[in-house]
Amino acid sequence: MEGGCTYEDYQNTAKWLLSHTKHRPQVAVVCGSGLGALADKVTQAQSFDYSEIPNFPQSTVLGHAGRLVFGFLNGKACVMMQGRFHMYEGYPLWKVTFPVRVFQLLGVNTLVVTNAAGGLNRKFKVGDIMLIRDHINLPGFCGQNPLRGPNDERFGVRFPAMSDAYDLDMRQKAHTIWKQMGEQRELQEGTYVMLAGPNFETVAECRLLHMLGADAVGMSTVPEVIVARHCGLRVFGFSLITNMVIMDYESREKANHEEVLESGRAAAQKLEQFISILIGNITLPDNS
Ligand code: HPA
Repeated sequence: MEGGCTYEDYQNTAKWLLSHTKHRPQVAVVCGSGLGALADKVTQAQSFDYSEIPNFPQSTVLGHAGRLVFGFLNGKACVMMQGRFHMYEGYPLWKVTFPVRVFQLLGVNTLVVTNAAGGLNRKFKVGDIMLIRDHINLPGFCGQNPLRGPNDERFGVRFPAMSDAYDLDMRQKAHTIWKQMGEQRELQEGTYVMLAGPNFETVAECRLLHMLGADAVGMSTVPEVIVARHCGLRVFGFSLITNMVIMDYESREKANHEEVLESGRAAAQKLEQFISILIGNITLPDNS
């Protein structure tokens, strides 16, 4: 079946979690490659391995722990995904995005997405943080969309808007807070393009993506954002620029996963601190 699970499957997972924890998160955070340490910052932490949670897929990538961590980050009730699911692992996109709908059923109203990405914008440097302004769903151009299949109106409409996917107020707040943090480096902002992976891009592909107007390239995030917007969650997020993509044929450099994880570690602390302050500054809707 397209869209391989039912509303009851999401509900059963949410019910299981609600009966196994007293936490009632309002913010969900997806920790990208090398950014899992963000989840170690929460207080009153309670974590569940993905393998314990009914219906949850398992994470198979090195550098992705595979746990759901409940707790407080800077005073806000959060649930953090320490490790996410990727299309390149072989999961259909409804499975990649399964946790997002569970979060919505838990009462979460905001999703924060993070990822490691390659820099396409020539102004970027390794270690930069890019606030995601928009995305290009390249797999979607070929029919790979997590919303493909019958639409469940209990989650959202058949044809959701995506022009306002990344919340404007949160983006403005991010710039303000970045300035207050007194950082020397500029906070970058731009468009994230998703490719299915797992191979890194060819030179010709990087040139094409650059021409398409993308600033950073990665292998995740977009499916989660689409499903989150479909079910009414507010979304904002960041890419950590862990490498600059190779755009010329004379270069002897090449991308590798170790470099991605290493740069992630070096810049992660800054991003963790930044996200923690931002989450502390989220104003929640009146009804929560
Ligand atoms: N390409 C795709 N995904 C990535 C990259 C990259 O250069 N860096 C980190 N994730």
